[in-house]
Amino acid sequence: MQSPFEPFADTTSLQQAVTDSFCQLAEQTVAKNGVFRVSLSGGSTPRRVYEMLSGRNLPWDRIHWFWGDERNVPHDHDDSNFRMVKTALLSKVDIPPQNIHPVPVDVESPAKAAEQYEQTLRQHFHGPVPDWDLVLLGMGDDAHTASLFPETLGLGEQKRWFIENWVPKFDAFRYTMTYPAIESARNIWFIITGEAKQDALKQVLFGEEDAARYPSQRIQPTRWFVDAAACGDGA
Ligand code: 6PG
Repeated sequence: MQSPFEPFADTTSLQQAVTDSFCQLAEQTVAKNGVFRVSLSGGSTPRRVYEMLSGRNLPWDRIHWFWGDERNVPHDHDDSNFRMVKTALLSKVDIPPQNIHPVPVDVESPAKAAEQYEQTLRQHFHGPVPDWDLVLLGMGDDAHTASLFPETLGLGEQKRWFIENWVPKFDAFRYTMTYPAIESARNIWFIITGEAKQDALKQVLFGEEDAARYPSQRIQPTRWFVDAAACGDGA
């Protein structure tokens, strides 16, 4: 069976392609609609792309930055996705503070923080679902995406846009966008690199249909950015 994408020979060319495509889409969307609203992925894979974006001449005052998921840790914590993006990009360019929308993490009351972030999203998206200009997603080696982990309650959420999701393997809550809020995006890009993702990617592409076990299976990306290492000989 053929995979729905052409893998990039290496991670560097993939990162270049994501960065170029991001800039192109952002400029086109701002030219058309005056604003570009993007949901960022966390983890380690997109960091280099964020660093590369910091060197570009983008319409920074027209771009709004949101997080598709976050860890339940303070913003200055090593594991914070906000901190990763701030270090890689936000601290290096002149972005109006009102354009940056971190998850208002509340370690003691994640439910309240998730509800608050949903309200923030609903202030920016007035339709029945958030029509993102772009949602960036990664995939874990267990086929999770955003913080929609296998066999977690968050997979079944159909009304809320943003939730606190209890993840037993971390014995902790994660914050995450829900499927309905992801699937309504105009552009959904999967960025997947490295050998560690081979087995999960094979299950997502060719495995039996089981989104509870392989949450990334339910995502219909508009673009796949995958490197040869993540494909191995399977995809
Ligand atoms: C997070 C992410 C998550 C990530 C995958 C892949 O907060 O961890 O948003 O969904 O994309 O876990 O992580 P890596 O890029 O570190 O492999």
